[in-house]
Amino acid sequence: MNIHAVVYCVLLSFVLFFFRNGYAKLAPDYIHPCDATTRECLVKSTQDAIPEFVKGIPDLGVPSLDPFVIEKLAIPLSGLKVTFYQGKVTGFRKCVVDNVISELEKRHFVLEFHCNLTIKGQYDAVGRLLLFPINGEGDAKIKLTNLRMKVDINTKYIKDDKGVNHFALKNYKYSFDYGDRVSFDLQNLFKESKELSETVLNFLNENWKTVAEEFGKPIVDYAVDLAIRTIEKFFLAVPYEELINVPIPK
Ligand SMILES: *[C@@H]1O[C@H](CO)[C@@H](O)[C@H](O)[C@H]1NC(C)=O
Repeated sequence: MNIHAVVYCVLLSFVLFFFRNGYAKLAPDYIHPCDATTRECLVKSTQDAIPEFVKGIPDLGVPSLDPFVIEKLAIPLSGLKVTFYQGKVTGFRKCVVDNVISELEKRHFVLEFHCNLTIKGQYDAVGRLLLFPINGEGDAKIKLTNLRMKVDINTKYIKDDKGVNHFALKNYKYSFDYGDRVSFDLQNLFKESKELSETVLNFLNENWKTVAEEFGKPIVDYAVDLAIRTIEKFFLAVPYEELINVPIPK
């Protein structure tokens, strides 16, 4: 190869490099945009994306949801002070999508799904729970079977500083139920007595619904808020046009 050919090749690779990067799509390959907002396509496309999406997208600043970490969470209850820390939540990758509604014109988005989740970590608790005086700390494991959730999001359309369109979140609300069962494995509920610890733990499991309703909401709020903020980051990173093949309504 003579020098001209070398220069040509180098230039050509630069041009190709910049061309490809300039037009590179940002959405990961597991995003399969729908051509219409039909329930069938939206459910499938969301279901396809979940197992990969929950791993996070470090390049785009989107954090992992499975596992996700709860560094420290104080659960305020009347008469009982529970702190949960070094928690690790797993299971989102296997969530089953039950329904997705995307009303582009009304700027409204609904996602319904159910999942089995496991939360593992450490806890301490001092005070009274139901009838029992609690004074414990140790390992905690909570399993939720078929937790059902519906997230209702009002969206808007924004342009970033390059003039590219994005979905954005205006506000959201959600509802959920604890599903088929919540099981608790809380070690050392009473530092003084192993026997009493086991008795109370059995009682908590027999009354899982009451217990979950009593102290589950802050954990669920925390998880939903994190998931929503993750989706928000994803929307800000990936252009609207790469998520759905339907123009933004006027
Ligand atoms: C959750 O676990 C239960 C019992 O092990 C199983 O029947 C159910 O299909 C699971 N649900 C999901 C969403 O994986």
